[in-house]
Amino acid sequence: MISEHATTILFRTIQIEQTAKIAIFIICGLLIIFFYIHDRIQKEHAILRNYPLIGHFRYIFESMRDYVQQYFITNDREELPFNRAVRSWVYRAAKNVENVVGFGSTRDFTKPGTLVFTDAPFPPIGREAVAAKPITIGPYCRTPYIAKTFFNISAMSYGALSKAAILALSNGARMAGCWLNTGEGGISPYHLEGGADIVAQIGTAKYGYRDLDGNLDDTRLKNYGDNPQIKMFEIKLSQGAKPGKGGLLPAAKVTPEIAEIRGIAPYKDSVSPNRHEDISNVTELLNVINRVRDVTGKPTGFKAVFGSYEWLDDLFNEILKRGIESAPDFITLDSKDGGTGAAPMVLVDHVGLPIRDSLPVLVNMLVQYGLKERIKVIVSGKLATPSYVAWGLCMGADFVNCARGFLFALGCIQAMRCHLNTCPTGITTHNPRLVSGLDPKNKAIRVYHYATNMVHEIGILCHSVGVLDPRELNRTHARVLTTSGHFVSLADLFPLPEKS
Ligand SMILES: Cc1cc2nc3c(=O)[nH]c(=O)nc-3n(C[C@H](O)[C@H](O)[C@H](O)COP(=O)(O)O)c2cc1C
Repeated sequence: MISEHATTILFRTIQIEQTAKIAIFIICGLLIIFFYIHDRIQKEHAILRNYPLIGHFRYIFESMRDYVQQYFITNDREELPFNRAVRSWVYRAAKNVENVVGFGSTRDFTKPGTLVFTDAPFPPIGREAVAAKPITIGPYCRTPYIAKTFFNISAMSYGALSKAAILALSNGARMAGCWLNTGEGGISPYHLEGGADIVAQIGTAKYGYRDLDGNLDDTRLKNYGDNPQIKMFEIKLSQGAKPGKGGLLPAAKVTPEIAEIRGIAPYKDSVSPNRHEDISNVTELLNVINRVRDVTGKPTGFKAVFGSYEWLDDLFNEILKRGIESAPDFITLDSKDGGTGAAPMVLVDHVGLPIRDSLPVLVNMLVQYGLKERIKVIVSGKLATPSYVAWGLCMGADFVNCARGFLFALGCIQAMRCHLNTCPTGITTHNPRLVSGLDPKNKAIRVYHYATNMVHEIGILCHSVGVLDPRELNRTHARVLTTSGHFVSLADLFPLPEKS
């Protein structure tokens, strides 16, 4: 028989066990509630705001990555469109944390196409560094634009991007002194709110600049031209990811506000024509450029991806015939492998030329026609890290535009859902729950750090190759590994022509 004392002890033990279980249960519950609330209200990580608690798994897996990648995961340089090494550089630059690596490079220096820069035997001392000189665009128009920095934000419309993303970009751009291109969806109040310099893009549907019949409207153009914040106008002929196809904003992303800004019906696909109705040859292109410039008084140029070059001969000959004042003030050259909010795969994968081919050809043709000083070259396409931005400058570009690098600065995790309205980081969606995860103030600071650290690190590269100002970079400063097994100077691969 069990004694009464033993029964009491057993009973007490069971009671203590139960109390302990309840206490543990309550503590766990409180911890879960605490972390849930913490995740929802913190402003650093959109993923945690949008996916409280479970979002931590992303960061846990990320921190374990270095230890397990050799067993399961692709290496740092394999992922596309942007590999891990590039994304990590941008994330660190945007967070303004130390951007150094240990042990050595993970690049494969035996792969043809590998880019290196030619270091100077006696580089200048760091304290001699000078900032890149500002450049004047549009010397013949009523209000030329003095562009402060060579690294700027490429076209992405309000529509493709959320309100919070545009606000972060416009504020970050103002702080960094760079321009923000509106993309083809017209000028939204959020583009203007941050106070950045604005490049207003006129797409094939002319959203924001059209009359009721869809034609270019001079009154609207003039109103925008009178706004001192709007510095330049860019006529979009084509975009690298979808040459020959106009913009596409899926119905789910055409909110009533976006429809209002664009002058279209809400919640219906917004499909721009594949070409400007009024631009079917180089003569008409110059006519429209000159009309926009005359009406607005601001520098005007065009954006395109090149698939062939013959038409540029026609364009440059026509400019020389009319006089150099008639020239576009700039050409924005986009790369085949550029990004998009939404585009058909056949175009994304197969049409147009990458800038490693088209940029040297464009620059050489401008030199040959004596137009290089007159027409500024802006280039975009996967130029998101200092080495590739420097490559663009070496090749002869005056400015580099970047779109997806700035999306990484906003916290993009390359989920590839820009066309679905379900972007987990609140950047390319209008789902209020997801957008609420993106804190515009916090991300504006990241945009600022990304842009300024980019310029800073290009300064470091410049010293290494022996120049003081990034604008002094030229083709002799970089080499590419060819199939011959030798690193050949860009100056030898793409020699500059004589002016004809
Ligand atoms: C989400 C998104 C939206 C875009 N919208 C436009 C646009 O409206 N107009 C345009 O000319 N280019 C647009 N682009 C293309 C970019 O401006 C840029 O030319 C291209 O992505 C190459 O730059 P990147 O490699 O730095 O992204 C868009 C790109 C992305 C990722």
